[in-house]
Amino acid sequence: KTIDSLGDLRGKRVLVRSDFNVPLDGTTITDDGRIRAALPTLKRLTDAGARVVVMAHLGRPKGTPDPQYSLAPVAARLGELLEQDVTLAEDLVGPSAKVTVDALADGQVALLENVRFDPRETSKVDAERAELAGELAQLADAFVSDGFGVVHRKQASVYDVAQVLPAAAGGLVRSEVESLSKATGDPERPYAVVLGGSKVSDKLGVIANLLTKADRLLIGGGMVFTFLAAKGQSVGNSLLEEDQIEAVKGYLDSAEKNGVEIVLPVDVVAADSFAADAPHQVVAADSIPDGTMGLDIGPESGKLFAEKLADAKTIAWNGPMGVFEFEAFAAGTKAVAQGIVDATADGAFSIVGGGDSAAAVRALGFDEAGFSHISTGGGASLELLEGKELPGLTVLAD
Ligand code: 3PG
Repeated sequence: KTIDSLGDLRGKRVLVRSDFNVPLDGTTITDDGRIRAALPTLKRLTDAGARVVVMAHLGRPKGTPDPQYSLAPVAARLGELLEQDVTLAEDLVGPSAKVTVDALADGQVALLENVRFDPRETSKVDAERAELAGELAQLADAFVSDGFGVVHRKQASVYDVAQVLPAAAGGLVRSEVESLSKATGDPERPYAVVLGGSKVSDKLGVIANLLTKADRLLIGGGMVFTFLAAKGQSVGNSLLEEDQIEAVKGYLDSAEKNGVEIVLPVDVVAADSFAADAPHQVVAADSIPDGTMGLDIGPESGKLFAEKLADAKTIAWNGPMGVFEFEAFAAGTKAVAQGIVDATADGAFSIVGGGDSAAAVRALGFDEAGFSHISTGGGASLELLEGKELPGLTVLAD
């Protein structure tokens, strides 16, 4: 259901779930992409005269108030971007939340304190989450689900509240689902997927699903060393998940059977230690010296990956190719990002998913407009690529 289905919103209190789980350095927001992505829906609601009550989480506090996870920096940034003061309630459903919501005028926005300060938010007990959802519902007349990054979570502010208030999907959730379904539905081919990031164990489901969907799978990042090890190559001190080697061997076999091309790096940047200024050298991927660790794919691999992307018609990318936060190990991620930008300019539909790769794209200075879609979802976009049903979406369809 769209926001239109909620009828005339003037003077109505609308509870919005956003994903404001932004990276922080102390109290400084280092990437405000998720806040900016929420603005169109919030503006749409304020323009309609709604009294907007936003709820969000930050980090993973343990179900109790913890100042380091306060949404205060988010409230300040949101206020700047919306060009209005955004009051932060001191609690979620307590006296401060009630006073804050009662004080809202038409077109104003307030933020409730971190939903995860209440243990019922993430409870596995349905009745506990339902109880919190009931209390949240008393603060509002309608609910808009717009935190795409959390729709894979069966949590009170995402899932249960949608069952007790008239509910609709916000513009961000709609556009994310529309874009991602171009890859998960019937992608235009060739369909190439670039996977990176540190752990193969986080990506098992998505790899298994992609082996039946994609034409090419390009693998980099820390997870690639488990692939190299599965092929019998020695990986020195590189990140290795030994308990996943058998699973990866199985993937290599099914890729061959299904005609899916798996593209691995041919060279890597091997460093003496995990540090920005560590001595490093480019080595062939099958001869990583003992005592060194691969921290990026090498220049030949960057070229190879860009070639494999050049004729793709659909591209999905999740996870950086190396430790891009350190300049010496950022070239592989840059090469892939550039390859995707070039393929997009030639007509490919490209999706960048996963908090890290979206942040990498921005931190490395790429223009977001060079990609067809930069997802705000990390786990959520991965689970969609994995072919899973997401509770925060199914509840809106019900
Ligand atoms: C994210 O950062 O991917 C979302 O905000 C979800 O956060 P979570 O993994 O802590 O539920």
